[in-house]
Amino acid sequence: MRTLIKNGRVITAVDDYFGDILIEGERINLIGESLEMEADKVIDAEGLLVIPGGIDAHTHMDMPFGGTTSADDFESGTRAAAHGGTTTIIDFAIQNKGQSLYDALDTWHGKAAGKAAIDYGFHMIATDLPRERMGEMKKLINHEGVTSFKLFMAYPGVLLVDDATIFRAMTTAGEEGALICMHAENGVVINEIVQYALERGCTAPKFHALTRPTKAEAEGVNRAIALAEMAGSPVYIVHLSCYDALKKIKEARDEGIPAFAETCPQYLFLDYTHYESKDFEGAKYVMTPPLREKWNQEELWTGLRMNDLQTVSTDHCPFCFNDQKQLGKDDFSKIPNGGPGVENRMSLIFNGGVVEGRINLNRFVEITSTAAAKIFGLFPRKGTIAVGSDADIVLFDPNKKMTISAKTHHMKVDYSCYEGKEVQGTAEYVFSRGKLIIEKGKYLGKAGDGSFLRRSTVQHKTKESVLNITKQK
Ligand code: URP
Ligand code: ZN
Ligand code: ZN
Repeated sequence: MRTLIKNGRVITAVDDYFGDILIEGERINLIGESLEMEADKVIDAEGLLVIPGGIDAHTHMDMPFGGTTSADDFESGTRAAAHGGTTTIIDFAIQNKGQSLYDALDTWHGKAAGKAAIDYGFHMIATDLPRERMGEMKKLINHEGVTSFKLFMAYPGVLLVDDATIFRAMTTAGEEGALICMHAENGVVINEIVQYALERGCTAPKFHALTRPTKAEAEGVNRAIALAEMAGSPVYIVHLSCYDALKKIKEARDEGIPAFAETCPQYLFLDYTHYESKDFEGAKYVMTPPLREKWNQEELWTGLRMNDLQTVSTDHCPFCFNDQKQLGKDDFSKIPNGGPGVENRMSLIFNGGVVEGRINLNRFVEITSTAAAKIFGLFPRKGTIAVGSDADIVLFDPNKKMTISAKTHHMKVDYSCYEGKEVQGTAEYVFSRGKLIIEKGKYLGKAGDGSFLRRSTVQHKTKESVLNITKQK
């Protein structure tokens, strides 16, 4: 199949030009001016931006959590992502305590196989990493294309791992050129605050936020950076939500420490006051870290503009309001943590970033696609428009407006965090590896179009670790 895209304005993280693109099979074959050749399909992209498909490096499809399972599976979730202009997700496989990493990976391969509409990779959430498992971790990195691992400082008794485990994992990741993704919140202290609040009858959704202070996140970020420095490895902070935490990243980066971080649309557009909505509606926004005071939002945008934050991912982890969120009706700590967003990321960031004048078009592409491809070992196959790259291409209308609503979205969840919000900028045509899967709001793909992505190691391998002391023997 040959597709010719004509007259578009091609935007990558570094380019901005008018040109034509020939897709041959799954790849970009030729880019030039006024291309005139035979093609099975010709699309006139005049007035549209031609951008690399979005990469959402943080989603949770079909994830058991908080006594229930996230509402989107790989079929509905990736289809919704495609509607919004995202053509790659990196989801999370989860290792149960005592389970081998390989078993965990098999389980997640089983959940995704034959279902995904777009390509996907896996990070591994590791909960049990004794020394004996380091060999398995290395095999995942070098043979299975799983080159990043998420560790939790939060959720004691469920996902939390101790500092020794974090240091051990960072050491191994550093040696292999892999990356540790950190959920950086001091969950042990948070648990104390939660118990204190519950004992005093503070059960409403807003106490989810009030029991998780920004200092608990900043402490986690600080500790993650210190441990990574000792291990001589880079670290990537997931879902960074506030200025206190951002300051720690900025300080580290100013000193040349390889600390990376993502934020999410919810922290850029929503704030603490949403928890005070009437009739338990605040539960819709119970996610971790929680929404913060509004003034943090502009600081996060500055972080994105100045490259102290490199990526915007969604942390898409939807739970329906009408049944799942109700699990915490009488106790905020039982509300399943997470919210929907995979479909809305590109339009929200375009609207809040480019239309409202906070970032330029190149930076928009960089934070929604290119940087994630580079950090997570997918570049240049993904994340750019270049000859030889996968033809993951979005023809994006920078002027078209839409109103976000649960009535029209494609995520399998009964509410939207952005209900009624008008955004400018929509994905009109979406190609996934050369196949047109979205055309003006219509889904043309099928379950199973998406394939598993084996990612490379791209981080610099450890040279300076405190463990080098043994060389002094
Ligand atoms: O509330 C959230 N973020 N749920 C998903 C799990 C996580 O910590 O990323
Ligand atoms: Zn997390
Ligand atoms: Zn998450």
